[in-house]
Amino acid sequence: MDSKKVRIAVLISGNGSNLQALIDAAARNDYPARIVLVISDKVDAYGLKRAENAKIPAFTIERNNYSTREEFDAAINAKLSEYNVEIICLAGFMRILSAWFVNKWSGKILNIHPSLLPDFKGAHAVRDALVAGVKESGCTVHLVTEELDSGKIIGQERVPVFLDDTEEVLHKRIHEKEHILYPLALKILINN
Ligand code: GRF
Repeated sequence: MDSKKVRIAVLISGNGSNLQALIDAAARNDYPARIVLVISDKVDAYGLKRAENAKIPAFTIERNNYSTREEFDAAINAKLSEYNVEIICLAGFMRILSAWFVNKWSGKILNIHPSLLPDFKGAHAVRDALVAGVKESGCTVHLVTEELDSGKIIGQERVPVFLDDTEEVLHKRIHEKEHILYPLALKILINN
């Protein structure tokens, strides 16, 4: 059964609560994927601990050990090959991948973003939604393409935005939906 499961790598930079949601989903026998590798660009990312707890091989690949983005991406790619990875899930990975990498993995990289794309692309999506005064926000899982936060949308979840929301409170509400959406969207990608 396990050998039929699609082999997933999750790339992180921080807490890794979405990584945890994927690990938990993949623990179910009927889930079509298995997390075989975690890569962080930050040595102190808490997600590395989550990987360790789940006995998933995890590695830190730091950007400043490479002189170009392509060399950094090639190092990531080498690890992915070593573990026969089939699909990559970006989960709070705070690096922009090179065109070379994205095209090589075309249709096989998912990202989760804390807004209802195409609204509020970029690194401050939750803050930007609050500043814009929207009444509703949410999260999006989409395919990664060369253009930031712009690939095909696989799934979205919505949350209300309240007048007294802080960035932290709203992000927490969005995170709760992300943890449901990401495993679902990965399953949709695999089944289609
Ligand atoms: C999530 O809100 C995700 O949408 C964004 O980064 C955050 C990562 O959170 N890309 P976590 O590390 O998975 O807890």
